[in-house]
Amino acid sequence: MAQIFSKKANLLPLLTLLGLAVGGGVVTLLVWYYFSPQFTDVGYAPSQPVAYSHQIHAGKLGMDCRYCHSSVEVSAHANVPPTQTCMNCHNQVKKNSLALQPVRQSWATGQPIAWTKVHHLPDYAHFNHAVHVTTGVGCETCHGRIDQMAVVQQTQPLSMGWCLECHRQPELYLRPPSEVTTMGYVQPADFVTRNLERIRAEHIVPPTNCSACHY
Ligand code: HEC
Ligand code: HEC
Ligand code: HEC
Ligand code: HEC
Ligand code: HEC
Repeated sequence: MAQIFSKKANLLPLLTLLGLAVGGGVVTLLVWYYFSPQFTDVGYAPSQPVAYSHQIHAGKLGMDCRYCHSSVEVSAHANVPPTQTCMNCHNQVKKNSLALQPVRQSWATGQPIAWTKVHHLPDYAHFNHAVHVTTGVGCETCHGRIDQMAVVQQTQPLSMGWCLECHRQPELYLRPPSEVTTMGYVQPADFVTRNLERIRAEHIVPPTNCSACHY
């Protein structure tokens, strides 16, 4: 009997099905990977070894972020303060507080407090605090209202799309560099115009090329 279709053609429906199955699987995986809270991490608020509260220190007491995160304007990395910084006050204030027992112990033994990191980029993506903070991107823009948090919580996705959203239109986000640590900052009505002028005058060009962040 004459073959109407070549033998190979019989494979076509099978291949199509397989393609759909694999494609569907990949799409499901991608959706799961990108949209699951573990990946975007928004809302992540691990408990800490000391019940340290930004709401008390940065909010109620009005301490500047840089008193503790002192490297944030000069280094790629934003430091978490050493126990010494806490003891500047707590060797006198709330000396006998039970909540401060692990701080006193760390001070006595020289063993640093094992704070759990909240914000996390994968190793293949590079981020520099000093560049952003000195250009006028507020802590609040990336970390939210830290001054209202008893426990630090991630409020932004820190995803590539999120980085690029600002890099493409920084005029929507920049504030005067003197206001970077201000919490609850309100932009003036003409801020986009002002920012566009600054961007032109100071040649502020956030990169969108891959190698700027991946190297
Ligand atoms: C008295 C010291 C102190 C001050 C002032 C302070 N912080 Fe912190 N900050 C800490 C400590 C200690 C931690 C680590 C424990 C934690 O996450 O709560 C921390 C953690 C953080 C984290 C999370 C870091 C991570 O693991 O990802 C951010 C973001 C942060 N601080 C931002 C700020 C901002 C913004 C301000 C100013 C509004 C500020 N901090 C003021 C001591 C301080
Ligand atoms: C500038 C001074 C100052 C520094 C620096 C400081 N604190 Fe405090 N802290 C205070 C004051 C004042 C209070 C009490 C505030 C209140 O009760 O309203 C307090 C309260 C606390 C409490 C609650 C204690 C209790 O029994 O209620 C903890 C825990 C604490 N601080 C941890 C820390 C840690 C950890 C650090 C270092 C990362 C730190 N503090 C740095 C001034 C400071
Ligand atoms: C443009 C966004 C952006 C701005 C502005 C920004 N941060 Fe961050 N911050 C991040 C990202 C992203 C990470 C995680 C970095 C990583 O994992 O490499 C982070 C991490 C941190 C950490 C944790 C460091 C560690 O390794 O434990 C602290 C503390 C912190 N930021 C404080 C601040 C403070 C204080 C300011 C303002 C003076 C600030 N940040 C401004 C994006 C930002
Ligand atoms: C809200 C705005 C904003 C967000 C969000 C932001 N950036 Fe930027 N970024 C800037 C601006 C503005 C500059 C340009 C600074 C200049 O040209 O002076 C910049 C510059 C950079 C640079 C070039 C300078 C350097 O460090 O070599 C890199 C890399 C970078 N950003 C990475 C990131 C990454 C990674 C993220 C996300 C985790 C991110 N940025 C999120 C505003 C932002
Ligand atoms: C402004 C900084 C920035 C630029 C520019 C950038 N990326 Fe990314 N990229 C990131 C960050 C941050 C992550 C990590 C995202 C996360 O953890 O959610 C990432 C993640 C990735 C991933 C892992 C998968 C994913 O999407 O999470 C790939 C692949 C990637 N980038 C490729 C690229 C390519 C290709 C380019 C150029 C077209 C590029 N990136 C440009 C910041 C950047």
